[in-house]
Amino acid sequence: MIEASLWHPLALAEQVSSAPLPVTLLAQPLVLWRSADGVAHAWPDRCPHRGAKFSLGQVVNDRLECPYHGWQFDGQGQCRHVPALAQFVPPATHCVQTYRVQEAHGLVWVQLTPGPEEAPLPAFGGASVTALRAVNCGPYDVATSAPRIVENFLDMAHFGFVHEGWLGTRDATDVPEYQVQETPTGLLATGCQAWQPRSNLHAIAPARVEYTYEVTAPYAAVLAKVPEAGSTAVDGWRESIGLFICPVTPESSRVWFRLAVADFETPDEKLQAFQDTIFTQDQPVLESQQPKTLPLDLRAELHTVADKMSSSYRRYLQRSGITFGVC
Ligand code: FES
Ligand code: CO
Repeated sequence: MIEASLWHPLALAEQVSSAPLPVTLLAQPLVLWRSADGVAHAWPDRCPHRGAKFSLGQVVNDRLECPYHGWQFDGQGQCRHVPALAQFVPPATHCVQTYRVQEAHGLVWVQLTPGPEEAPLPAFGGASVTALRAVNCGPYDVATSAPRIVENFLDMAHFGFVHEGWLGTRDATDVPEYQVQETPTGLLATGCQAWQPRSNLHAIAPARVEYTYEVTAPYAAVLAKVPEAGSTAVDGWRESIGLFICPVTPESSRVWFRLAVADFETPDEKLQAFQDTIFTQDQPVLESQQPKTLPLDLRAELHTVADKMSSSYRRYLQRSGITFGVC
């Protein structure tokens, strides 16, 4: 399964602590915890002794202690203590499988199986947004596949209906022509425009907003606003929203957004509340779509030229050999 070699987001970095956290990735239960050196760990949520869930245990002496018989495992996954045999020195074979972990974009990322090539972490921002302020929103637990959520994020034709009065209006529903091209890691759509009554927290008047959309990995995408001509305040800054999705099961997902904004004043909670409002509008429609997995056979659903990015995304998933969350 190619998906296992990708990096997937599992939790906000601040949520991973010495209290073991149960999560699910690609239908596999994992436990996340953080040792005293600040390093985050991801293991199967299953003790190799008798299969109890580590996430019901606790960290003792900087080791994760299983809730059942109290075996303790250090940050390398090595068993260091078997309480039933105080003198026993556990051999190297008494260990748990450990997964590769890294922290980026405010999230903890895990790779289940290293692939033949090093999978890149989904990109976000780069040099053009490092001057901006970053805020994470979510998690949102959604009862649909990760690819359905990516498509919704790339879709401009729903603004006037799902987000009426916010990101769109029924009076201006046309999707002007835009361009789609392949990139080394996914897809790029340029020239995307929408007439938006309230494109962000501070919008006081409707405006034509110009975007680029980029698919940066099978379950990740980035929207970047093209700076308005003549605007000095945001000169060269591209306000962006990153979408990062954990494929929990083929039909359920955990979603985060990362905002990079030129707004240094508004409290995090207000920016997050705006994003909550928008996503709460999307969620019931997203969860109503059938099938919940995304059909890769282009004959399975109907398409128009306005859906060019979404049909390109389906072809990209097919090319990439993705099987989880698609049908
Ligand atoms: Fe974990 Fe026995 S099941 S210590
Ligand atoms: Co939407």
